[in-house]
Amino acid sequence: MRRKHLLSIIGGRPQFIKTAVLTRTLRGRTELEHTIVDTGQHYDHSMSSIFVEELDIPPPIILGVHGGAHAEMTGRMMIALDPVLADTKPDIVLVYGDTNSTVAGALTAAKQHLAVAHIEAGLRSFNRNMPEEINRIVADHLSDILFCPTQRAVANLTREGLGHQVLHVGDVMADLAKIASTQFTRSNILEKLHLQEKHYVTLTIHRAENTDDKDRLVALIDYVRHDSNGLEVVMPIHPRTRDAIEKFGIKMEGVTVTPPVAYTDMGCLIKGSERVYTDSGGLQKEAYFHEVSCVTLRDETEWVETIACGWNRLWTQPTYQTRRPIRDYGEGDAGIKIAATLAAHLE
Ligand code: UD1
Repeated sequence: MRRKHLLSIIGGRPQFIKTAVLTRTLRGRTELEHTIVDTGQHYDHSMSSIFVEELDIPPPIILGVHGGAHAEMTGRMMIALDPVLADTKPDIVLVYGDTNSTVAGALTAAKQHLAVAHIEAGLRSFNRNMPEEINRIVADHLSDILFCPTQRAVANLTREGLGHQVLHVGDVMADLAKIASTQFTRSNILEKLHLQEKHYVTLTIHRAENTDDKDRLVALIDYVRHDSNGLEVVMPIHPRTRDAIEKFGIKMEGVTVTPPVAYTDMGCLIKGSERVYTDSGGLQKEAYFHEVSCVTLRDETEWVETIACGWNRLWTQPTYQTRRPIRDYGEGDAGIKIAATLAAHLE
Protein backbone atom coordinates (compact mmCIF):
# COMPACT_ATOMS: atom_id res chain seq x y z
CA MET A 1 0.00 0.00 0.00
CA ARG A 2 1.27 3.50 -0.86
CA ARG A 3 2.29 5.53 2.18
CA LYS A 4 0.05 8.55 2.56
CA HIS A 5 1.77 11.89 2.37
CA LEU A 6 1.27 14.80 4.77
CA LEU A 7 2.84 18.13 3.98
CA SER A 8 3.19 20.83 6.66
CA ILE A 9 3.55 24.46 5.63
CA ILE A 10 5.32 26.62 8.22
CA GLY A 11 7.24 29.91 8.18
CA GLY A 12 6.77 31.87 11.40
CA ARG A 13 8.52 31.12 14.67
CA PRO A 14 5.47 29.61 16.43
CA GLN A 15 4.89 27.24 13.53
CA PHE A 16 8.32 25.67 13.91
CA ILE A 17 7.35 25.01 17.51
CA LYS A 18 3.92 23.57 16.64
CA THR A 19 5.14 21.29 13.85
CA ALA A 20 7.73 19.82 16.24
CA VAL A 21 4.87 18.09 18.06
CA LEU A 22 3.42 16.60 14.88
CA THR A 23 6.88 15.50 13.76
CA ARG A 24 7.36 13.54 16.97
CA THR A 25 3.94 11.94 16.86
CA LEU A 26 4.18 11.03 13.18
CA ARG A 27 7.50 9.25 13.67
CA GLY A 28 5.51 6.41 15.24
CA ARG A 29 3.18 6.11 12.24
CA THR A 30 5.05 4.41 9.43
CA GLU A 31 1.98 4.53 7.18
CA LEU A 32 2.35 8.32 7.00
CA GLU A 33 5.14 10.27 5.35
CA HIS A 34 5.65 13.86 6.52
CA THR A 35 7.35 16.66 4.56
CA ILE A 36 7.84 20.17 5.93
CA VAL A 37 7.95 23.26 3.73
CA ASP A 38 9.21 26.51 5.26
CA THR A 39 8.04 29.57 3.31
CA GLY A 40 11.00 31.53 4.68
CA GLN A 41 8.82 34.17 6.40
CA HIS A 42 11.11 34.10 9.43
CA TYR A 43 14.69 33.86 8.23
CA ASP A 44 16.93 34.92 11.13
CA HIS A 45 18.57 31.86 12.70
CA SER A 46 17.13 32.84 16.10
CA MET A 47 13.59 32.95 14.66
CA SER A 48 13.61 29.76 12.56
CA SER A 49 16.48 27.29 12.05
CA ILE A 50 17.40 27.37 15.75
CA PHE A 51 14.14 25.48 16.36
CA VAL A 52 14.86 22.94 13.63
CA GLU A 53 18.03 22.02 15.51
CA GLU A 54 16.71 22.34 19.05
CA LEU A 55 13.35 20.63 18.53
CA ASP A 56 14.70 17.96 16.19
CA ILE A 57 12.51 18.82 13.21
CA PRO A 58 13.50 17.18 9.87
CA PRO A 59 15.16 19.75 7.58
CA PRO A 60 12.39 21.61 5.74
CA ILE A 61 12.25 22.60 2.08
CA ILE A 62 12.97 26.34 2.35
CA LEU A 63 11.29 28.68 -0.15
CA GLY A 64 13.09 31.85 0.95
CA VAL A 65 10.12 34.25 0.76
CA HIS A 66 10.17 37.03 3.34
CA GLY A 67 9.60 40.74 3.71
CA GLY A 68 7.33 43.06 1.78
CA ALA A 69 3.79 44.18 2.46
CA HIS A 70 1.15 41.57 3.27
CA ALA A 71 -0.23 41.17 -0.27
CA GLU A 72 3.24 40.92 -1.73
CA MET A 73 4.51 38.47 0.87
CA THR A 74 1.40 36.29 0.66
CA GLY A 75 1.39 36.38 -3.15
CA ARG A 76 5.06 35.45 -3.41
CA MET A 77 4.52 32.59 -0.97
CA MET A 78 1.65 31.27 -3.09
CA ILE A 79 3.74 31.47 -6.26
CA ALA A 80 6.57 29.57 -4.55
CA LEU A 81 4.26 26.98 -2.96
CA ASP A 82 2.28 26.22 -6.12
CA PRO A 83 4.88 24.04 -7.92
CA VAL A 84 5.90 22.29 -4.68
CA LEU A 85 2.32 21.20 -4.05
CA ALA A 86 1.78 20.32 -7.73
CA ASP A 87 4.93 18.14 -7.75
CA THR A 88 4.43 16.40 -4.42
CA LYS A 89 0.60 16.09 -4.49
CA PRO A 90 0.25 15.52 -0.75
CA ASP A 91 -2.83 13.71 0.55
CA ILE A 92 -3.30 16.39 3.21
CA VAL A 93 -1.71 19.82 3.63
CA LEU A 94 -1.31 20.95 7.24
CA VAL A 95 -1.32 24.64 8.11
CA TYR A 96 -0.78 26.08 11.57
CA GLY A 97 -1.97 29.16 13.43
CA ASP A 98 -2.60 32.50 11.80
CA THR A 99 0.38 33.92 9.94
CA ASN A 100 0.73 34.93 6.30
CA SER A 101 2.33 31.50 5.72
CA THR A 102 -0.88 29.88 7.02
CA VAL A 103 -3.15 31.76 4.66
CA ALA A 104 -0.81 31.38 1.65
CA GLY A 105 -0.58 27.62 2.32
CA ALA A 106 -4.33 27.13 2.73
CA LEU A 107 -5.16 29.16 -0.39
CA THR A 108 -2.60 27.48 -2.64
CA ALA A 109 -3.60 23.99 -1.49
CA ALA A 110 -7.35 24.62 -1.77
CA LYS A 111 -6.90 25.96 -5.31
CA GLN A 112 -5.17 22.71 -6.23
CA HIS A 113 -8.12 20.81 -4.68
CA LEU A 114 -5.89 19.34 -1.99
CA ALA A 115 -7.33 18.53 1.43
CA VAL A 116 -6.32 21.08 4.08
CA ALA A 117 -6.17 20.57 7.84
CA HIS A 118 -5.80 23.60 10.12
CA ILE A 119 -4.07 23.14 13.45
CA GLU A 120 -5.11 25.77 16.02
CA ALA A 121 -8.37 26.46 14.19
CA GLY A 122 -11.29 28.55 15.38
CA LEU A 123 -9.54 31.26 17.37
CA ARG A 124 -11.10 34.68 17.01
CA SER A 125 -10.24 38.09 18.44
CA PHE A 126 -13.15 39.68 16.54
CA ASN A 127 -10.73 42.46 15.60
CA ARG A 128 -10.30 42.54 11.82
CA ASN A 129 -7.60 45.19 12.08
CA MET A 130 -5.27 42.35 13.02
CA PRO A 131 -3.75 40.62 9.99
CA GLU A 132 -3.85 37.40 12.03
CA GLU A 133 -7.66 37.56 12.31
CA ILE A 134 -8.05 37.75 8.53
CA ASN A 135 -5.60 34.86 8.13
CA ARG A 136 -7.52 32.72 10.64
CA ILE A 137 -10.90 33.29 9.02
CA VAL A 138 -9.65 32.47 5.53
CA ALA A 139 -7.62 29.43 6.62
CA ASP A 140 -10.54 28.02 8.63
CA HIS A 141 -13.03 28.43 5.80
CA LEU A 142 -10.71 26.73 3.29
CA SER A 143 -9.91 23.78 5.55
CA ASP A 144 -11.44 20.31 5.42
CA ILE A 145 -10.44 19.36 8.96
CA LEU A 146 -10.32 21.90 11.79
CA PHE A 147 -8.31 20.95 14.87
CA CYS A 148 -9.38 23.23 17.72
CA PRO A 149 -7.35 23.85 20.88
CA THR A 150 -10.36 25.00 22.95
CA GLN A 151 -14.13 24.62 23.28
CA ARG A 152 -14.49 28.32 22.55
CA ALA A 153 -12.78 27.76 19.20
CA VAL A 154 -15.28 24.97 18.44
CA ALA A 155 -18.15 27.33 19.29
CA ASN A 156 -16.70 30.08 17.05
CA LEU A 157 -16.52 27.72 14.08
CA THR A 158 -19.96 26.25 14.74
CA ARG A 159 -21.36 29.78 14.64
CA GLU A 160 -19.66 30.26 11.26
CA GLY A 161 -21.30 27.10 9.90
CA LEU A 162 -18.17 24.92 10.06
CA GLY A 163 -19.23 22.73 13.00
CA HIS A 164 -19.26 19.47 11.00
CA GLN A 165 -15.50 19.63 10.23
CA VAL A 166 -14.42 20.49 13.78
CA LEU A 167 -12.58 18.48 16.42
CA HIS A 168 -11.52 19.67 19.87
CA VAL A 169 -8.10 18.04 20.34
CA GLY A 170 -6.39 20.38 22.84
CA ASP A 171 -3.30 22.50 22.31
CA VAL A 172 -0.13 21.17 20.67
CA MET A 173 1.84 23.77 22.64
CA ALA A 174 0.71 22.07 25.86
CA ASP A 175 2.11 18.82 24.41
CA LEU A 176 5.48 20.41 23.76
CA ALA A 177 5.65 22.02 27.20
CA LYS A 178 5.11 18.56 28.71
CA ILE A 179 7.70 16.92 26.44
CA ALA A 180 10.19 19.69 27.24
CA SER A 181 9.79 19.28 31.00
CA THR A 182 11.05 15.69 30.86
CA GLN A 183 13.08 15.31 27.67
CA PHE A 184 14.91 18.55 26.92
CA THR A 185 18.23 19.56 28.44
CA ARG A 186 18.09 22.26 31.09
CA SER A 187 18.64 25.82 29.96
CA ASN A 188 21.29 28.05 31.57
CA ILE A 189 19.68 31.31 30.46
CA LEU A 190 19.18 32.57 34.04
CA GLU A 191 22.90 32.20 34.79
CA LYS A 192 23.78 33.76 31.44
CA LEU A 193 21.63 36.83 32.09
CA HIS A 194 22.49 36.93 35.83
CA LEU A 195 18.85 36.54 36.83
CA GLN A 196 17.48 35.28 40.09
CA GLU A 197 14.24 33.29 40.06
CA LYS A 198 11.15 35.41 40.76
CA HIS A 199 13.23 38.61 40.90
CA TYR A 200 12.45 39.63 37.33
CA VAL A 201 9.60 39.77 34.82
CA THR A 202 9.67 38.68 31.16
CA LEU A 203 8.40 41.02 28.44
CA THR A 204 7.75 40.37 24.75
CA ILE A 205 6.09 42.65 22.19
CA HIS A 206 5.88 41.96 18.47
CA ARG A 207 2.35 42.60 17.15
CA ALA A 208 2.07 45.22 14.42
CA GLU A 209 -0.74 46.92 16.37
CA ASN A 210 1.78 47.53 19.20
CA THR A 211 5.00 48.19 17.31
CA ASP A 212 3.83 50.40 14.46
CA ASP A 213 2.58 53.28 16.62
CA LYS A 214 5.24 55.08 18.66
CA ASP A 215 2.85 56.38 21.36
CA ARG A 216 1.33 52.96 21.88
CA LEU A 217 4.74 51.25 22.11
CA VAL A 218 6.04 53.83 24.59
CA ALA A 219 2.83 53.54 26.65
CA LEU A 220 3.17 49.73 26.83
CA ILE A 221 6.83 49.82 27.90
CA ASP A 222 6.08 52.51 30.52
CA TYR A 223 3.17 50.45 31.78
CA VAL A 224 5.36 47.37 32.25
CA ARG A 225 8.09 49.36 34.02
CA HIS A 226 5.51 50.75 36.42
CA ASP A 227 3.41 47.59 36.91
CA SER A 228 6.42 45.35 37.61
CA ASN A 229 7.19 47.28 40.82
CA GLY A 230 10.91 47.76 40.31
CA LEU A 231 11.68 44.17 39.30
CA GLU A 232 14.14 43.75 36.45
CA VAL A 233 12.37 43.61 33.09
CA VAL A 234 13.91 41.10 30.62
CA MET A 235 12.88 41.49 27.01
CA PRO A 236 13.91 38.99 24.29
CA ILE A 237 13.30 41.20 21.30
CA HIS A 238 11.58 40.38 18.00
CA PRO A 239 13.29 41.97 14.94
CA ARG A 240 10.19 44.04 14.16
CA THR A 241 10.22 45.56 17.67
CA ARG A 242 13.99 46.11 17.62
CA ASP A 243 13.59 48.07 14.38
CA ALA A 244 10.65 50.09 15.76
CA ILE A 245 12.53 51.02 18.94
CA GLU A 246 15.50 52.13 16.87
CA LYS A 247 13.37 54.05 14.38
CA PHE A 248 11.35 55.86 17.07
CA GLY A 249 14.42 56.43 19.28
CA ILE A 250 12.68 54.94 22.34
CA LYS A 251 14.76 54.86 25.54
CA MET A 252 14.81 51.39 27.11
CA GLU A 253 16.17 52.30 30.57
CA GLY A 254 15.38 49.68 33.17
CA VAL A 255 14.78 47.02 30.50
CA THR A 256 17.32 44.26 29.77
CA VAL A 257 16.98 43.71 26.03
CA THR A 258 18.30 40.39 24.63
CA PRO A 259 18.17 38.81 21.16
CA PRO A 260 15.32 36.29 20.57
CA VAL A 261 15.89 33.09 22.56
CA ALA A 262 15.50 29.37 21.86
CA TYR A 263 12.46 27.34 22.97
CA THR A 264 13.99 25.82 26.11
CA ASP A 265 15.53 29.14 27.12
CA MET A 266 12.15 30.83 26.77
CA GLY A 267 10.50 28.13 28.87
CA CYS A 268 13.14 28.62 31.56
CA LEU A 269 12.79 32.41 31.45
CA ILE A 270 9.01 32.18 31.79
CA LYS A 271 9.18 29.64 34.60
CA GLY A 272 11.59 31.80 36.60
CA SER A 273 9.60 35.01 36.07
CA GLU A 274 7.50 36.69 38.69
CA ARG A 275 5.14 37.58 35.85
CA VAL A 276 5.00 37.58 32.03
CA TYR A 277 3.98 40.64 29.99
CA THR A 278 3.30 39.80 26.35
CA ASP A 279 1.25 40.33 23.22
CA SER A 280 2.04 36.81 21.98
CA GLY A 281 -0.67 34.15 21.98
CA GLY A 282 1.85 31.39 22.62
CA LEU A 283 3.34 33.07 25.68
CA GLN A 284 -0.06 33.65 27.28
CA LYS A 285 -0.49 29.88 27.37
CA GLU A 286 3.12 29.05 28.17
CA ALA A 287 2.87 31.28 31.25
CA TYR A 288 -0.05 29.11 32.34
CA PHE A 289 1.82 25.86 31.59
CA HIS A 290 4.57 27.09 33.95
CA GLU A 291 2.01 28.40 36.47
CA VAL A 292 3.11 32.02 36.10
CA SER A 293 0.71 34.99 35.94
CA CYS A 294 0.44 36.80 32.62
CA VAL A 295 -0.55 40.30 31.58
CA THR A 296 -1.58 40.53 27.93
CA LEU A 297 -0.49 43.74 26.24
CA ARG A 298 -3.50 43.88 23.94
CA ASP A 299 -7.07 45.10 24.20
CA GLU A 300 -8.51 41.62 23.61
CA THR A 301 -7.30 38.02 23.43
CA GLU A 302 -8.30 34.87 21.59
CA TRP A 303 -7.21 32.76 24.58
CA VAL A 304 -10.19 33.76 26.70
CA GLU A 305 -9.93 30.77 29.04
CA THR A 306 -6.59 32.05 30.38
CA ILE A 307 -8.48 35.13 31.58
CA ALA A 308 -11.62 33.29 32.77
CA CYS A 309 -9.45 30.88 34.80
CA GLY A 310 -7.49 33.67 36.51
CA TRP A 311 -4.02 33.16 34.97
CA ASN A 312 -4.07 36.13 32.64
CA ARG A 313 -5.50 39.64 32.47
CA LEU A 314 -5.49 42.31 29.80
CA TRP A 315 -3.35 45.36 30.60
CA THR A 316 -6.63 47.30 30.60
CA GLN A 317 -8.00 45.09 33.41
CA PRO A 318 -6.84 45.85 36.96
CA THR A 319 -7.33 42.43 38.57
CA TYR A 320 -7.28 38.70 37.91
CA GLN A 321 -10.33 36.45 38.18
CA THR A 322 -10.26 33.53 40.63
CA ARG A 323 -7.68 30.93 39.67
CA ARG A 324 -8.55 27.44 38.53
CA PRO A 325 -6.99 24.92 36.15
CA ILE A 326 -7.70 25.18 32.42
CA ARG A 327 -9.03 21.85 31.11
CA ASP A 328 -9.37 22.83 27.44
CA TYR A 329 -5.72 22.49 26.46
CA GLY A 330 -5.71 18.75 27.18
CA GLU A 331 -3.26 16.38 28.81
CA GLY A 332 -0.42 16.75 26.32
CA ASP A 333 -2.09 14.42 23.83
CA ALA A 334 -3.26 16.86 21.14
CA GLY A 335 -0.58 15.65 18.69
CA ILE A 336 -1.61 12.02 19.17
CA LYS A 337 -5.26 12.88 18.55
CA ILE A 338 -4.40 14.88 15.43
CA ALA A 339 -2.22 12.09 13.99
CA ALA A 340 -4.91 9.48 14.69
CA THR A 341 -7.58 11.61 13.00
CA LEU A 342 -5.39 12.23 9.95
CA ALA A 343 -4.57 8.52 9.64
CA ALA A 344 -8.26 7.57 9.91
CA HIS A 345 -9.17 10.23 7.35
CA LEU A 346 -6.67 8.76 4.88
CA GLU A 347 -7.64 5.08 5.27
C1 UD1 B 1 4.44 37.04 12.25
C2 UD1 B 1 2.93 36.75 12.21
C3 UD1 B 1 2.36 36.78 13.62
C4 UD1 B 1 3.14 35.87 14.55
C5 UD1 B 1 4.61 36.23 14.50
C6 UD1 B 1 5.45 35.33 15.38
C7 UD1 B 1 1.83 37.49 10.15
C8 UD1 B 1 0.91 38.49 9.56
N1 UD1 B 1 2.21 37.73 11.41
O1 UD1 B 1 4.60 38.39 12.68
O2 UD1 B 1 1.01 36.35 13.58
O3 UD1 B 1 2.65 36.00 15.86
O4 UD1 B 1 5.07 36.14 13.15
O5 UD1 B 1 6.76 35.78 15.49
O6 UD1 B 1 2.19 36.53 9.51
N2 UD1 B 1 12.01 39.93 10.48
C9 UD1 B 1 13.35 39.76 10.61
N3 UD1 B 1 13.84 38.50 10.81
C10 UD1 B 1 13.02 37.44 10.90
C11 UD1 B 1 11.63 37.62 10.80
C12 UD1 B 1 11.15 38.87 10.59
O7 UD1 B 1 14.13 40.71 10.53
O8 UD1 B 1 13.52 36.32 11.09
C13 UD1 B 1 11.47 41.27 10.21
C14 UD1 B 1 10.78 41.31 8.85
O9 UD1 B 1 11.66 41.59 7.82
C15 UD1 B 1 9.75 42.38 9.05
C16 UD1 B 1 9.38 42.24 10.52
O10 UD1 B 1 10.46 41.56 11.15
O11 UD1 B 1 10.26 43.65 8.82
C17 UD1 B 1 8.09 41.55 10.73
O12 UD1 B 1 8.12 40.22 10.20
P1 UD1 B 1 6.81 39.54 9.58
O13 UD1 B 1 7.14 38.20 9.09
O14 UD1 B 1 6.15 40.49 8.64
O15 UD1 B 1 5.76 39.42 10.76
P2 UD1 B 1 5.94 39.19 12.34
O16 UD1 B 1 5.85 40.49 13.02
O17 UD1 B 1 7.11 38.33 12.66
